[in-house]
Amino acid sequence: MSKREHWSGRILFILAAAGSAIGLGNLWKFPYISWANGGGLFVLLYIFFIILLGLPIMISEIAMGKATGTGPAGAFRALGGQKTPFRFVGYLGVATALLLLSYYSVVAGWSLEYTAKAIGGEFESIPPAKLEQLAQSEAGIQALQTKALKQEIAFATDSQKEEILRDSGLLQANLRDDEMQILFRNSAEKIPALLLEKGKADEWGTIFLNKVQSSEDFVAWRQEALKPLHSDTMFADFLSDKTKLITWHSVIMLITILIVAGGIKGGIENAMKIFMPLLFIIIIFLTINSLLLDKEQEGLRFLLWGDPSRFSAKSIVEALGHAFFSLSLGMGVMITYGSYMGRGNHAVKDSIWIVSADTFVSISATLMIFPIIFVYGMQPTSGGAGILFTALPLELVKFPGKSLFVFIFYILVFIAAITSAISLIEVVVTYLIDEKKMKRYHAALSAGIFIYLLGIPSALWISGFFTRLDFLVSNILLPFGGLLIAIFAGWVAEQKAIENEFHAKGIPAWTFAVYRFVLRIITPVLFAAVFGHLLLSAG
Ligand code: PHE
Repeated sequence: MSKREHWSGRILFILAAAGSAIGLGNLWKFPYISWANGGGLFVLLYIFFIILLGLPIMISEIAMGKATGTGPAGAFRALGGQKTPFRFVGYLGVATALLLLSYYSVVAGWSLEYTAKAIGGEFESIPPAKLEQLAQSEAGIQALQTKALKQEIAFATDSQKEEILRDSGLLQANLRDDEMQILFRNSAEKIPALLLEKGKADEWGTIFLNKVQSSEDFVAWRQEALKPLHSDTMFADFLSDKTKLITWHSVIMLITILIVAGGIKGGIENAMKIFMPLLFIIIIFLTINSLLLDKEQEGLRFLLWGDPSRFSAKSIVEALGHAFFSLSLGMGVMITYGSYMGRGNHAVKDSIWIVSADTFVSISATLMIFPIIFVYGMQPTSGGAGILFTALPLELVKFPGKSLFVFIFYILVFIAAITSAISLIEVVVTYLIDEKKMKRYHAALSAGIFIYLLGIPSALWISGFFTRLDFLVSNILLPFGGLLIAIFAGWVAEQKAIENEFHAKGIPAWTFAVYRFVLRIITPVLFAAVFGHLLLSAG
């Protein structure tokens, strides 16, 4: 093993593993699936799975890699015997990596499209022709009316508000004075919502819009009012542009191949040192900005309490699957990275760092996106899959750098995605090097081209192929890979190698017993419960 490359230090291993974990899963996917599954309970369950399953399996993977110094396939053989059936988990991991990266690369390409849009200044104002088109559209008229309604009602006196409610037949006779007061106090939000609900928004919207129309700053007002809709349609238009989607997918795969062909030190580490800290700083800054923006704290409330009506049996499986997806677990990425680990590293402590950093970024990402959706009254379409791209530019262009700021943000999204893509392809490349004795650049090139071709259907059929493949990979393949790793590490593997990782300062001895109990008993039972429940509720 003496010829094997090693990370140049403890921190760099943590950075690289965190770089794999932190990616589109945190910035793009977590906010969007939390939104689609109604926040609240979903988020709580996700954190529960992260701690109970994610952390122990992370420790197992890293310890297995470190102890054996080989990629997944070899690690299973080294710890379970040459003929162990678990060596197939290694092959399953390679197959999962191929599938996952094929569509991951497509989404990573979206970030490049958005950096390109930022360079073109597309977020600063709506071009005149587009503005007219939006203003005439049904959704556009509704957006204008709603904004006029909110604004006028906010300025109205109590007796005017009462009149609006009475004229619309919405004033309940039995409303007490204090109830009336509450209604009036929150009227800017409540009354438009009431009018919308009762189908009266159109009438009043037209009246108010006419009033606004005669004011002198109407041109600017209309620009502002239509920006959220513009942002939505921009994203939808992009998704229907197949040539662009495939072009960006090619660019991403090309960059991934080039970096991985450069090897561990030359490629991955250099990218990590600069960009990870920058990503953290910018996310924290934007999260604070969004929370301050959202005076009613609707975004935060949605994250905490949410909308239980959007939660279903499938949500439980999605929370579980995403715990694996987000931590890069269940297919041997962490075994692979662990195999390049130096002696100074420590599987248990490093895992705690990686898991905490990853969860922190996921939660921050939702807190930076949700408030914008509420404050701008956006209506995310198709489950909200685009909220990372539709919501943020609205706020980003407000900072002094305008387009520059949008550009920096999506470059960071791109880098977060690339560092994860690298870890995915590295599973395949390490396999080809270790098992098939290929040269690194040769392995990177052949894996890359194969994955590129595999990704084309995902770029062509986002709502059909892509979402199904993602469901298969995230919610079935990764969790079952993780379950098998847990069973292997808990029951089959030689325990000494793993137990050694628990002999360290600050880690009490009993934690190993808890860890093993979770792997041996809790994990299988929990899986049986979750997937049994899904099957029952589906059938
Ligand atoms: N964890 C990565 C993310 O959150 C995705 C990934 C999954 C990477 C599995 C490697 C393995 O974006």
